Order: sequence, then C-alpha cells, then structure tokens
Amino acid sequence: MCGIIGHVGNGDAIDTLLTGLENLEYRGYDSAGVAVQNGSGIEIQKRSGRVSELKASIEDRPLRGRVGIGHTRWSTHGPPTDENAHPHTDSTEDVAVVHNGIIENYAELKERLSARGHEFTSDTDTEVIPHLIQQYVDEGYGNEAAFRRAVEELEGSYAIAVMLSGEHTLYAARQGSPLVVGVEGEEFFLASDVPAFLEYTDTVAYLEDGDVAIVDPDGVEFTDLEGDSVDRDLETVDWDPEQTGKGEYDHFMLKEIDEQPTSLAQTIEGRIDPERGAIDLEGFEPGTFEDVSSVQLIACGTSYHAALYGSLVLNAAGVSARALLANEYSVCAPPVDEETLVIAVSQSGETADTLSALRQATEEGARTLTVTNVVGSTAARQADDSVLIRAGPEIGVAATKTFSSQAVVLELLAHRLTRDVVGETPYDLESYLPALARLPQQVDDVLEESDAERIARHYRDHESYFFIGRGLGYPVALEGALKFKEITYEHAEGFASGELKHGPLALVTPKTPVFAIFTGQEDERTLKNAEEASTRGAPVVAICPDGHRATEIADAHLEIPDTEPELAGLLANVQLQLVSYHAADLLGRPIDKPRNLAKSVTVE
Ligand code: F6R
Repeated sequence: MCGIIGHVGNGDAIDTLLTGLENLEYRGYDSAGVAVQNGSGIEIQKRSGRVSELKASIEDRPLRGRVGIGHTRWSTHGPPTDENAHPHTDSTEDVAVVHNGIIENYAELKERLSARGHEFTSDTDTEVIPHLIQQYVDEGYGNEAAFRRAVEELEGSYAIAVMLSGEHTLYAARQGSPLVVGVEGEEFFLASDVPAFLEYTDTVAYLEDGDVAIVDPDGVEFTDLEGDSVDRDLETVDWDPEQTGKGEYDHFMLKEIDEQPTSLAQTIEGRIDPERGAIDLEGFEPGTFEDVSSVQLIACGTSYHAALYGSLVLNAAGVSARALLANEYSVCAPPVDEETLVIAVSQSGETADTLSALRQATEEGARTLTVTNVVGSTAARQADDSVLIRAGPEIGVAATKTFSSQAVVLELLAHRLTRDVVGETPYDLESYLPALARLPQQVDDVLEESDAERIARHYRDHESYFFIGRGLGYPVALEGALKFKEITYEHAEGFASGELKHGPLALVTPKTPVFAIFTGQEDERTLKNAEEASTRGAPVVAICPDGHRATEIADAHLEIPDTEPELAGLLANVQLQLVSYHAADLLGRPIDKPRNLAKSVTVE
C-alpha cells in the first residue's frame, strides 16, 4: 500500500525513480510524484492519476538530479488530488518527504506547527513531517539531528524517506511499514519493496522497526533512532527481474494465473517424496508441534480463504483449528496459551491487520508461525517460525498463484501438525502424495483446456453471481466470489452450499448464475443445493470432473481433472480465476489495478 523509491548515485535519478514507481504501482495508484536535488534546490513534480501520466508530464518538463525520492499513493488521508500526492514539503520547499503508513498524532502536530506559523496545503497526515523537520532546522539543529528529532515525535506506522535541499543524502526511517535498501557498487536504492529496484540490484538490506538509514554517495549507515550503529546484513534476493515484468501478457493477473504450474512445483519441490510416502517441511522435524493443543489461523482476504482451507484440513484430521479474520482478532480472539499455535497467513507479510493480530497473539503467550511469500517480511520476522510458499513475486492486485501455494503449504503443515498432535496424517499418503506431485501438471491441463472465457462471455449480462461449495469447496466459493467482485465490480457472493436455502435462495433468479464447486466431499448434497437453485431458474455452472452427475443438471460445465478431495478445490479455483479474469476483461476493467484497492494493505 503506497510505494516508496529513492536513489542516490552517479547516474540520473529520474529514470530509476520512474522505473521504480512503475514497478511499485501495484501498491497504490491514486497519484504519484518525484523530487530530485537539481543543483539549486529541490524540484518536484507530482499529480493525481497513474505513473504514466506523471511520466508524460516529466517528458514535457524534464527534471534532472542524481539524488531523488518518489512515491505512488493509495489514499488514506485526503482524496487523490495533486495537492495530496507525495512528495510533501515544508513551506520553503527545503525538505521533501515521502511516507507510507499513518501518522496517528498528526492532528496534534499540525496544530502545534500551525501555531508557529506553518501553513499546510494538503489534507494528508504526511505533510506534518517536512514541517516538523524544518521547524527543528530553524531552531538550529543540523539536518540529521532535525530528522531524528522529528521522527522521535511521530506516532503510528511509517516508512519515510526524506531529502533536504543542498545535500546528496537520503534519510529514511521505519516503524511498522517495510523499507529496504539496495546496493550496487556506488549506486544506492531505497524502496518499500524489492521489485522496485530489481532491475538494478538484487543485493539488499532490510530495515527493522526503529531503524534509521542514512544513504549518501559514500555508502549506507544503519543506526537506531538515538544514532547508535546497528548491523543490517546485505542479502541476495533470488527473484529474477523477468519474473516481476508482464512479459507478453496484457495483465499481471493472467500471467500469474498461468504461472501456477511453476509456482506450485516450486512450493512442493524437495518437500514431498511420493515414493517414500514422506512430507518433509524444512526445519519442522517430527515432534516440532507435540506441545500444540489447538491452532488459530489469522489472515485477511484471499489469505483468509487459504487459512480457512487449512483449518478445515486440520479439523477433519482431529486437530482443533479455527480460521479468524485478522481485522476482527482484537475483538473476537478466542483465548490462547503457550499450547496454542497461531499461524499468520499473508502473501506480503506486511498486512497491518495481520501483523497486529500476530502481535496480540504473541503478547498473550501463543506460539506463532507465519506462512508467507516474502522472505524477510515483517510477519516472517515477527513470528517464532516461518514457512515460505515460494510462489515468486505477485504483482497483480488480485491474489491468484499465492492462494494455491498457501493452501498447499498449509496442507503440508497440517500433516506435520496432525502427526505430532494426534499421531495421524490427514491424508491417505499413498494416493495423496502422487496426486500432489501431479497437481502442477493438472493445473496446466486446466489452463490449456479451460472453457472459462466462453462461459464468462455467455453470462456477462447477469445481475449477481453466486458461488457455492461444501467442505473444502466452501473457501473456494468464497475466494471465487471475492475474485469476481474485486476485478469485475459486479455483485458476487460465496456461500456454503447448504446455506443457500437458509436465506440467499431468495435472491436466486434466472439472472443469477450459480457456480457450484464439487470436490468429491458430499457431492450429492451439493448437487441437491445446486438443483434447488436450478429449479428457481438460476443457470448452474458445475465445476467438476468429466462424467460427474452434476453435469447432467448443469447449464454449463468447467472441467477439472480427477484428484483427491484435498486438491480438487485448488483446480476448481483456477477455473474460477479464469472466469473472473475474462469477465473483467470483457467489461474493460483495469484488471491489475482495481478501483479503490492496493496490493499490500499496510493500514488497519
Ligand atoms: C484479494 C487480495 C487481498 C489479500 C489481503 C491480504 O485478491 O489479494 O484480499 O489477500 O489483502 O493480503 P496478504 O496476503 O498480503 O496479507
């Protein structure tokens, strides 16, 4: 949510900043801006709208400088106007700031600064930061001391990058929002997320909460807020810049849907051995979880659907597990103790609601584990343990390949957990492991043969879209509906299939297609529910293997290969991803950047 980029080096900063902003646009796309040191001071261009519009305006009025900062915004305080776009400055324009997160005490700071004559021109919380720094400079503090003094007063969550006029230095600080430094020879980069500068370097150091980084042409210095040096190791990230580009695709979403055979193969690589009948999740030896008595899975959005999927597998195998919305955790968390394992499921590992729930669980004494896609993410570092889903970078705002990898990792974890807790595995390993090994190829088959585009076209003029499933089909129904509404802007709802008759059936008409997911778990009952909708005139689209009984009553069929019930939902989900994608494409929606949304939601 919101993207920050910074550059210090010998080359021109503008290209790096604009490339960085384009790479980061998935984090926010309401407005964008850059600031550079141009020899005589700070020069800024910023505007509402996409990075492409900013780029066009810079082509008309070029900017130059070797040091600069840039920002792409997802609005929290104030609408997406030119004035509210970052960078923000003080009245003299000697201090420029880009910021992600929320300054909770901004109103109080603004009042204090206004009383001292500072004039504010935006509705943002961010604008208090440059004014506060300038205030301390005016009081005689040096630039660095003024920066530190101002940061000390900020309450809330932030990643900030600051430039002061006349200096080839960037000052950065992190509290609750990610920031990473990239190093390539004498070029230095600063960003909220590695893909921002992956074209230039894969050597990075992550800032921790409470860190300050001072970047100038001589290098990077990491300190705490008081100025004491802290060690932050340089690491190499193994993401390939090509992975973060769109390649020949029109949209990241379709590219990422199509990447699932590869991402799933990466997820399971070295972790399963069908011949030995073994599941081996690195770092989780037998007995790791023998003290666990119950499990809570916390997550938001698509990750919550994966968490629900994982909880159902655990419950079916006799381990008490609950999936909970992280944003509700502060008001609904069941009690925890040291025998409770709390699993945070988060693609980005930066979702503020999930981090806050994870913190709460830790404070209350639970054992914690994070399932994430991002090495070094806050959630991975905050939890006692972490497991990577290895799906590769996901740029499209709608999560796709990461859902399937999350669900598979949770199934692998469920094996270790249930073995340790109840002495059994949830699966018949003789059939489950070969089926899991086949999953990437089966996803490939679905992608090759899917009829989703035709079905999306056929049903595009309907009123509402319902998705139903039972057992492991239920989280898939929820996910199918979330994906559909998120990128088409059409009304869509997911239901447990048996729940239809308890109310939602009142909405069912010939204008409400019902997508029914059959996973092999109690399919006869789901079929009955689908028939109830069909009787009321709703077109039914059955997602099931060829020859399944549901195809006899359904108006349309999306085929999935035969597999184990624990995996069938993941194949059905790929069909539903394609339906949503094609429906949104036919409606001409901005698929990778749906309105009002952003990839990583770093505010609560
Ligand atoms: C929907 C989507 C969101 C995220 C949610 C959690 O397509 O992407 O619902 O799943 O914001 O994000 P992470 O997984 O990064 O914690």
